[in-house]
Amino acid sequence: MRIWLVGAYGIVSTTAMVGGKALERGVASTTGLVSELPPFEGLEKYAPLNFEFGGHEIRQLENAYDATLEHLNLNRHFDFKLLDAVKDDMIQIRTATGTAINCGSGIDELGEIRTIEDEEIGLREITEKLMDDMKKFSDGETVVINVASTEPLPELNKKYHDSIDGFETLLDENRKEYATASMLYAYSALKLGLPYANFTPSSGSNIPALRQLAEGKTPHAGSDGKTGETLVKTTLAPMFLYRNLQIIGWMSYNILGDYDGKVLAHRDNKESKVESKDKVLEKMLGYSPFSITEIDFFPSLLDNKTAFDFIHFEGFLGTRMKYYFIWDAIDAIVAAPLILDIARFLLFAKKKGISGVVKELGFFFKDPMESDLVNTHEQFSELINWYNQVKD
Ligand SMILES: NC(=O)c1ccc[n+]([C@@H]2O[C@H](COP(=O)([O-])OP(=O)(O)OC[C@H]3O[C@@H](n4cnc5c(N)ncnc54)[C@H](O)[C@@H]3O)[C@@H](O)[C@H]2O)c1
Repeated sequence: MRIWLVGAYGIVSTTAMVGGKALERGVASTTGLVSELPPFEGLEKYAPLNFEFGGHEIRQLENAYDATLEHLNLNRHFDFKLLDAVKDDMIQIRTATGTAINCGSGIDELGEIRTIEDEEIGLREITEKLMDDMKKFSDGETVVINVASTEPLPELNKKYHDSIDGFETLLDENRKEYATASMLYAYSALKLGLPYANFTPSSGSNIPALRQLAEGKTPHAGSDGKTGETLVKTTLAPMFLYRNLQIIGWMSYNILGDYDGKVLAHRDNKESKVESKDKVLEKMLGYSPFSITEIDFFPSLLDNKTAFDFIHFEGFLGTRMKYYFIWDAIDAIVAAPLILDIARFLLFAKKKGISGVVKELGFFFKDPMESDLVNTHEQFSELINWYNQVKD
């Protein structure tokens, strides 16, 4: 199968590429891949474990090998021998120039960038160019996944975002203030009938206009990969719920480095991330405990993301108690296998004739589209049941 990655030279993308190619060559194990668990037996028939990669980027590097080497030299997030084993494949992976419309001030941290709109062109032409790039790569078994830097919250306007006709008008009228890069990529993928996933908290396909476009055409899912602190939070909080313990307050403090951390250090880019992390407690518990969610840039940590959580809770007879945890993970290593999983499940859905939001893939996301289910245990059951129903 083929995976088109938006933000193809980022650390999550390049780790997914190395992983995909290493699996194909039999030099890596399937540890970390949800889609290889026993309940999903038979998925191989629809979405085999071999992958071709391409994508859009705005940083100008020679190829995916160079991009991976840059991340690996800094982070040492896996063994150099693995990259050597797939070097020839990685050199072949090159990207097309993307768009960075309304990507916020955080984009300045990426160094020198090149975008389609460096040449004065309108929104309609930008999407035509994006579609052209995707079309050249796709083969009928292709999935598009957004793994680009997090954008600021968009300015929404009912006239342009509530229907596909409105969105097409936005393109034709070239109302750049109402478009974001992630919307343009999502529009291009869905318009071509390619399954699409949004691994970031950016808007992507999560506006009524694009949900309408996907209906009857192709499956999509999002938003924001659930990989670290939120994964633990939504797995642990149900314990308090099942034992009827009242959560009074939950403090989450995250620190991280690398490009993702640099971009998120900008208030406008950070806002969407904090919002998607914050929503989960209320959705899960049915009430809203006092909550602090902070993300800060900590350069020397690089891709090592550390989350400190403190939970204040009340038990029998009104007695107050505390729970603390520290999650200390390599961000790209927990995220990359999910890129392969999501792509495989979306291709499966496409082959089974499913279109629109696949809410059953909510298991993979912090802020699942069209679903209030955020309890990891229930989401996992939902995914297994869906797979079994659709498979037969
Ligand atoms: N565990 C995780 O790592 C995790 C979990 C959930 C969500 N995410 C999200 O995934 C995304 C990628 O994370 P990362 O750690 O790989 O970040 P990264 O900074 O290493 O990679 C992002 C890449 O996107 C590129 N890019 C930025 N804007 C672009 C645009 N408009 N078009 C094309 N390319 C663009 C950048 O040049 C960069 O190469 C972020 O939005 C992050 O918040 C990551």
